[in-house]
Amino acid sequence: MNVRALAAKVLNQVVEQGQSLSQALPVLQQDLSPKDKALLQMLCYGVLRTLPRLDFFCRSLMQKPLKGKQRVFHFLILVGIYQLLYTRIPSHAAVGETVNGAKALNKQALKGMVNGVLRNFLREQEALIEKADQNDTLVYCHPGWLVKRLQNAYGKDKAASIMLANNQQAPMWLRVNAQHHNVESYQLLLEELDLSSYVASDNENKNALCLNKATDVYKLPGFEQGWVSVQDGAAQLAAHYLDAQPGDLILDACAAPGGKTVHCLELQPKIAQMVAVDADATRLLRVQENLDRLKLTATIIHGDASEPDLWWEGEMFDRILCDAPCSATGVIRRHPDIRWLRRDSDISELVALQKSILNALWKKLKVGGTLLYATCSILPEENDLQIKAFLKQHQDACLIPLSKKYDDILQGRQLLPNEDAMDGFYYAKLKKTS
Ligand SMILES: C[S@@+](CC[C@H](N)C(=O)[O-])C[C@H]1O[C@@H](n2cnc3c(N)ncnc32)[C@H](O)[C@@H]1O
Repeated sequence: MNVRALAAKVLNQVVEQGQSLSQALPVLQQDLSPKDKALLQMLCYGVLRTLPRLDFFCRSLMQKPLKGKQRVFHFLILVGIYQLLYTRIPSHAAVGETVNGAKALNKQALKGMVNGVLRNFLREQEALIEKADQNDTLVYCHPGWLVKRLQNAYGKDKAASIMLANNQQAPMWLRVNAQHHNVESYQLLLEELDLSSYVASDNENKNALCLNKATDVYKLPGFEQGWVSVQDGAAQLAAHYLDAQPGDLILDACAAPGGKTVHCLELQPKIAQMVAVDADATRLLRVQENLDRLKLTATIIHGDASEPDLWWEGEMFDRILCDAPCSATGVIRRHPDIRWLRRDSDISELVALQKSILNALWKKLKVGGTLLYATCSILPEENDLQIKAFLKQHQDACLIPLSKKYDDILQGRQLLPNEDAMDGFYYAKLKKTS
């Protein structure tokens, strides 16, 4: 199968049919060689990172937009322009393979049209690029509603740097299993394979290593034996901040796929019980897979975190991790489709869901116990404003400072995308006082 044609199909499914990239991509990647898999991924991620800009070029070169069944050819053209602008693929090969993509999509008749648009682009690119560079939407490549929210929250300049960070490729972070190695000894194992890495700049992030170049997980020493896992540095802070102690009864309330559940268990093997809950039964299967690979155990429950009475009659918890469903605006560099799939109206719905989950979980926390609230969002409504409102409504809650004081105005810690090479994340730790 022609890889450019497959990329056009994936992009059509994501942009026109609202499927996530993580749903659409693996299905079409299945039968490809590793090299073609990587190319398909690079094309899909790249086009989604630069979508409005490529759209603008395509629209400028065509008299009428392609619609209905022909829409997939619009994305084929975007794939073509993307290669010409942002990859080292020689232009003759990029054009030739993309034109062949039209044939692979069973439309021999459209080959000429695709060829014509790409060749015109090559001729007119300088003027088109100059025009695009005058328009912020075409420079930052984010939807207008998100630009507005980021500018309101952070001001124009900081919002611009956040958006540029969102358009970067995210590095591959590893979490070294504290039961087997420390980061220094694992780093030596990596060096033997010519894999260079560096430790997290945050010294509380004790298990995190960032690879200078991504690699296949199966090439990582001891991956199958559970010596190491792939997890962003910012996500790894959760287990350190939760700080589980021997004998604790712990609830991970939005647990799937289980990255933070297993990290807590790696750090503190003497936990009395870890209860991992998620509302998505399919995603819960991944929690079990992670536990199996790392030879760890937890009680897995399929349930709604906003209604714990339906699935928990046991003791109150010592510690609760609430890694709440959120806009995922902190992880756009890893999921470039998020910005096109999310809508402005989703934010208030998510804020309401987070509030109801927080309120419900609070009732299951022991007096003296702690709740760590986390999101991979960078929007204050889901983070600091959410926690401020919670504290106002709960006289029995107080904020515990995270190990360092990050910002006097904030209730917790807001990491921005690409800060120390990590994802955008938010953490706040609450204690039940009475
Ligand atoms: C940010 S992800 C969790 C990531 C996970 N903690 C990890 O580190 O691997 C949020 C999770 O919340 C789950 N979720 C959404 N609504 C929920 C609800 N009402 N109750 C429980 N889980 C929910 C989603 O299925 C999703 O798996």
